[in-house]
Amino acid sequence: MNAQRTPLVAGNWKMHGSLEANAALLAEVVKGAAVFGRGQVAVCVPFPYLAQAQSLLAATPISWGSQNVSQHTHGAYTGEVSCAMLKDFGCRYAIVGHSERRALYSEDDALIAAKTAAALAAGLTPIVCVGESLAERESGVTAEVVRRQLAAVIDVVGASGVAKSVIAYEPVWAIGTGKTASPAQAQEVHALIRAQVAQTDAGVAQGVRILYGGSVKGSNARELFAQSDIDGGLIGGAALVAQDFLAICAAAN
Ligand code: PGA
Repeated sequence: MNAQRTPLVAGNWKMHGSLEANAALLAEVVKGAAVFGRGQVAVCVPFPYLAQAQSLLAATPISWGSQNVSQHTHGAYTGEVSCAMLKDFGCRYAIVGHSERRALYSEDDALIAAKTAAALAAGLTPIVCVGESLAERESGVTAEVVRRQLAAVIDVVGASGVAKSVIAYEPVWAIGTGKTASPAQAQEVHALIRAQVAQTDAGVAQGVRILYGGSVKGSNARELFAQSDIDGGLIGGAALVAQDFLAICAAAN
């Protein structure tokens, strides 16, 4: 954590929730998050629950967003959701390029860069995910993979686009597995990411928030967030339990 950058803890609910469960979860999160500043806590919910998030969070310091978005503005794209639609429901964030989208829905670097550009053009803040698989880490190509994923985005949106984005480093082997990257392992990649952005614009690199994601819990968040280039977290499983999520938010503040 670096005092120059405002920390951010964003929950990624994935395909979980119901109107009833969300209302209970958000009520507790709202109560507990009152102590955190505006812009420091967010939840990324399934599309059908955006209206619910908007109505329950609009008067709170908590922001909300989606877990994916279309790269197209409108048209014959059955099943897709545009950035303008997300804006209609007050979204501030859109997760882009989550490893589950990359692996299960064949989203490639070019598509993710296009989605990032679309989000920025609509005034959303993309949370751009990068990260290596277990096989890639074991074969020593972590830096190369993350560099390639990020370069694809920087090439399209430039430093000014990165300045308006959030980057999330999520090693695929740590997502939902209970295996967290050690603070040193995470910091090493976060520093590489910041250095890569600095090659385009040093000022932007200093300001851009880089979140860590992958089995973050109340018990390991503080150590992770203490690293100089880790500016908060993207939280999956623990974001579904109010007290766990709030403990992580507290660790970032
Ligand atoms: P996890 O998921 O916290 O459950 O590991 C993180 C993510 O996929 O964003």
